[in-house]
Amino acid sequence: MDAVRRVLIGVCGGIGAYKIPFLVRMLRKKNCEVKLVLTPSARTLVGQEALAALSGNPVYLDGESRYDMDHIRLSEWTDSFIIAPATANTIAKIAAGIGDNLLTTLCLSIPEEKITVAPAMNTVMWENKATKANIAALGSRGISVLPVGTGPLACGTSGPGRMLEIEEIAKHLLSHSEGKKNGWQTGLRCDKQGVSLTGKRVLISSGPTEEPLDPVRVITNRSSGKMGAALAEAAIIMGAARVTVVSGPASEPLPRGAEVIPVRTALEMQKALVEKFPSADLCIMAAAVSDYRPLNISESKLHRSEEEIFTLELAPNPDILAGLGASKSPCQFLAGFSLESGDEISRAEEKMKKKRCDMMVFNRADTALGGDSTAFTLLFKDGGKESFPVMGKLEAAQVILAKIIDNFHRAAPCGDI
Ligand code: CTP
Repeated sequence: MDAVRRVLIGVCGGIGAYKIPFLVRMLRKKNCEVKLVLTPSARTLVGQEALAALSGNPVYLDGESRYDMDHIRLSEWTDSFIIAPATANTIAKIAAGIGDNLLTTLCLSIPEEKITVAPAMNTVMWENKATKANIAALGSRGISVLPVGTGPLACGTSGPGRMLEIEEIAKHLLSHSEGKKNGWQTGLRCDKQGVSLTGKRVLISSGPTEEPLDPVRVITNRSSGKMGAALAEAAIIMGAARVTVVSGPASEPLPRGAEVIPVRTALEMQKALVEKFPSADLCIMAAAVSDYRPLNISESKLHRSEEEIFTLELAPNPDILAGLGASKSPCQFLAGFSLESGDEISRAEEKMKKKRCDMMVFNRADTALGGDSTAFTLLFKDGGKESFPVMGKLEAAQVILAKIIDNFHRAAPCGDI
């Protein structure tokens, strides 16, 4: 059984507030103790009695004198303070250090590394420069900011701005506590300098590619897409502003908070990445790209013959990573994967130079391909090298992103992270 974790949920007056009872139930099932504080406008959107019953604790409201000094008592009590949904207005107040209700006052009395914000608002408000500056201010102070989801919004439009799904919020809160226990989380997304992916746009390629021979046959490889999915999930957990995954036909599901661009061939993958790369701060090529494609694709099914040897002509595919490396701005960080069949670390070093990457992840096909875990060595363009033992792919993804954050400023000086 996990250790009891004390989670304080701050609810603002956004329509996503109706999902909070489900979050409470989910956290309780995971052995968390839960308390809630509502802003005055949240009181009209969500039933206090239901929240009190589900959490097994009184719900904290504003302006009730019996709760004098609650901001101090609750600060001492809580391990994690999640504000969900966090409206543009409350985010602005937190950024400015205003404490005009119990929830915002708590943001002044609870240490920043314990605070996570799950924004929810209309797309125009989300993209407003003031909101962006406020989100960046929160990130720079070490507050974790979860990404928003994309989809239908309460105002009737559709776009980015939805509160992240509660499963993802719960996962974030629980992995946050897990990470602290394991010792790696400190210094990742919540250390004193606010080292995190907050505000960063992350682009990941994932999975295999498929090159058609005829309407029914393809040339592909054994990539499962697990590493790409783990990187996307870790980037979301670490507060990236946007996570885009250009994914080949992989079996592994991608996390809900990610924007997914499905592709099949290497050429389709190249097109999608070239389009998305200029607006990304960090790009990780985790896809296993097919190096060749059939020169001619038969429009009808090829028929077999027992008399003739079948010869297939293959045309080389472009080196997508090398193309991105050639067009990379000094503000961007570019990482590749070098999966080798043996201990050929020198090949990984050569690839890093040739493709102009800032970092290369070297791992071995026999342990990493298709599996749930991997050992790996990180190579940096300044000659740095660090090896890590076998670990689960999500943990590996978190380590890789943490090391990228450590090296980002050196590698991409104007893309300070
Ligand atoms: N890569 C790419 N485009 C290709 C082939 C590979 O962008 N056509 C990327 C991969 O996503 C990976 C890195 O380049 O991040 C190294 O891929 P790898 O297959 O190890 O190396 P190759 O350059 O294909 O060389 P080789 O197959 O000869 O080892």
